Amino acid sequence: MTITYKDAEGIEGMRHACRLASEVLDYLTPFVKQGTTTKEIDRLANEYMVKVQGTRSATLGYQPPGYPPYPASLCTSLNHVVCHGIPNDKPLKKGDIMNIDVTVITDDGWYGDNSRMYIIGEGSIAAKRLCAITYDAMWHGIVQVKPGARLGDIGHAIQKFAEASGYSVVREFCGHGIGKKFHEEPQVLHYGRPGTMEELQPGMTFTIEPMINAGRRDIKELGDGWTIVTRDHSLSAQWEHTVLVTETGYEVLTLSAGSPPPPAFVNA
Ligand code: MF3
Ligand code: CO
Ligand code: CO
Repeated sequence: MTITYKDAEGIEGMRHACRLASEVLDYLTPFVKQGTTTKEIDRLANEYMVKVQGTRSATLGYQPPGYPPYPASLCTSLNHVVCHGIPNDKPLKKGDIMNIDVTVITDDGWYGDNSRMYIIGEGSIAAKRLCAITYDAMWHGIVQVKPGARLGDIGHAIQKFAEASGYSVVREFCGHGIGKKFHEEPQVLHYGRPGTMEELQPGMTFTIEPMINAGRRDIKELGDGWTIVTRDHSLSAQWEHTVLVTETGYEVLTLSAGSPPPPAFVNA
């Protein structure tokens, strides 16, 4: 295990990168509407990162072992796409739900990673509920974060809430440590048992990013080598924050003016 514990300077670097990652999503929000293509959203995001922020995309050209280089500056995962959807030329339609996942790298090398769900026009009741429950599931995980808690506490809280809501948790992808690398240890599973896995300590930074399916949890990969879809074609949703373990609890780092507020159960 090589978890990196961030010192004061690292925490400042992560706060900055994560705020900028969240601000990319803020910037994109007004463009996410009927008729816009995901390629156009990708182009706008790249331009904003490079020309306005002075950051760059961590996903453009990203190539983990066994994968082709990822071809875009963000991921756009629509409807039954679970994650890693590649932007294309199809216009968004009323009733679509879409996750946009943005990871930036600052000029001093820190990574900030976050994603949100967007509903195009008036979504169906089922689509709105899936997006809302998935958001709350992420936060049920976040509120577990404090020194002495374990990663299994986070996974368990997410799984319990999602399954009690009638949904399933994708197992093949997880949250991850993040810092001067995109994906560091530890893996942050979105299912599990309380009191198991790595103990949380101040200075750890990692993502919590549950993928929740309306139907069965099974997935498959498409022939492009990246796109992951639900095997039963049921809808899938995901939200992602990067968090810091503080001396007393957690700090959500990927926050900005346009972030949705935490659910009522947080700090209630
Ligand atoms: N941002 C994603 C995550 O949350 C990873 C995307 S990798 C890509 O970990 F290459 F698909 F963009
Ligand atoms: Co991530
Ligand atoms: Co991400």
